[in-house]
Amino acid sequence: MVAQRLDGKLCAASVEEELHSRINACKSEGVVPHLAVVIVGDDPASHVYVNSKVKACQRLGIKSTHIELPASVAEDEVRATILKLNADETLHGILVQSPLPSHMDEEGLTDLIHPSKDVDGFHPENLGRLVQGRLDGMLPCTPSGVMRMLRWADIDLTGKSAVVLGRSRIVGMPQALLLGAKGADATVTVVHSRTADSKAVCAQADIVVAAIGRPEMVRGDWIKPGAIVVDVGINRVDDPTRERGWRLAGDVHPEVGEHASWLSPVPGGVGPMTIAMLMENTVRAAERSNQL
Ligand code: GUN
Repeated sequence: MVAQRLDGKLCAASVEEELHSRINACKSEGVVPHLAVVIVGDDPASHVYVNSKVKACQRLGIKSTHIELPASVAEDEVRATILKLNADETLHGILVQSPLPSHMDEEGLTDLIHPSKDVDGFHPENLGRLVQGRLDGMLPCTPSGVMRMLRWADIDLTGKSAVVLGRSRIVGMPQALLLGAKGADATVTVVHSRTADSKAVCAQADIVVAAIGRPEMVRGDWIKPGAIVVDVGINRVDDPTRERGWRLAGDVHPEVGEHASWLSPVPGGVGPMTIAMLMENTVRAAERSNQL
């Protein structure tokens, strides 16, 4: 079996296409959707992600404010920056790129973002709504992008057994909630670092979402023939054959393509979907600010 490509780039383009008319409607009411992106420190991968987010704003006519702070900045200054952005009525979305430098209280800081501007969907109020099964709030971008991509490919999850590899606040946990929510209706198992036999659990799944951050850990024999596999991993691995000395690898080994019915590529799978959902959350926040 050769897996069909779950093409996030194509799906993201269709999401962005739908956003144009909503952005124009905002603008005709005098509201220019506006996103602030805060990055602290010099992690090269984070800078690449943030630049992609800013570029998507430019492409769509969403205003963006890009705030870069050095890793040595005092936590109080990051706190003051977020509070100032909360108070700015011309601004609809605030994103603090994760990870923050290790000496900072990342959750404490991102909890300061006003829930109505929390376009990452990480605030306890927004995650709490998700736990309650209310899906009309700000949903975390990567897991909601995965759900959108599955729906776009006409993949029905009802009654399927889903395994989520990883239990992070950003992807794994909210992904498990979305897969199991009413309307999606999968039966979900979360596999994590203390799971007794991850491979055996994975091998019984109809759908696997891998979000563990370990390059190519999911091998062909982890996957039931015909399963649907979504690769959330974006890992840099050394590759002396490349001029830049590294390549991107997902959490899923390429041989999985010989077992799965669908497989999302890295790059070009979940990454573009995360950005498209961030744009959608920003537009939704702008619409709600004006009750459009
Ligand atoms: N780091 C990796 N993914 C994300 C994300 O979706 N949002 C933020 N803020 N940081 C990230």
